Amino acid sequence: MLRIAPSILAADFADLGKEIADVKRAGADWLHFDVMDGRFVPNISVGLPVAASVRKATDMFMDVHLMILEPVLYAGRFCDAGADMVSFHVEADTPEGIGRAVREVRDRGKMVGLALKPGTGAEAVLPWLPELDMVLVMTVEPGFGGQRFMEDMLPKIRKVRSLIDKMRPKCVLETDGGIDERTARLVADAGCTVAVAGSSVFRASDRTAAIRALRADDVNREV
Ligand code: DX5
Ligand code: ZN
Repeated sequence: MLRIAPSILAADFADLGKEIADVKRAGADWLHFDVMDGRFVPNISVGLPVAASVRKATDMFMDVHLMILEPVLYAGRFCDAGADMVSFHVEADTPEGIGRAVREVRDRGKMVGLALKPGTGAEAVLPWLPELDMVLVMTVEPGFGGQRFMEDMLPKIRKVRSLIDKMRPKCVLETDGGIDERTARLVADAGCTVAVAGSSVFRASDRTAAIRALRADDVNREV
């Protein structure tokens, strides 16, 4: 079954504690926490102090997605701030820097993921795949919520699925960007196991129904 990770990027930041409690109540599986530095992506979101406050406010699984250059400088600090999993982009540093960031997270006993921008091939994760807990396939250009899902990412999701099945079966395959009821089915069919959803959860009038629809909870039961 597809698990759903609402992205706080689409929440009302002035009411973040309540927003998080509300998506938990609505049945969300994970909480997705987007960090942007204004350099790796052309936007700035939230950082370490907000992560630490969120950690105090909820026991939800906190999936931190770093869209920052040189993730090795901050990956460990997000672990210390309370992340359960930290992912960062293969494009954000040299292979050596990425390897160091992976170790930084693993040494702290947290889960580690690598993310791929739309222009990066599935094979880019191969050097680190045996050590990863997650591969995150971006289905929009990172930087902003509310963008249109890129259908041409589906073959890449299938490719990552087959690499994971061969080399690291317990690794999670997450997709992020433009996930709604329709595109959730597409990514799930391609082998995704956790879908990030910002707008389609936080902007829904009934968040419980929205999460259920994304997960397709009722599809099999109705037959
Ligand atoms: C984009 C972020 C996403 C974003 C998803 O760079 O990584 O997590 O918030 O938002 P939606 O679901 O609105 O596309
Ligand atoms: Zn994200």
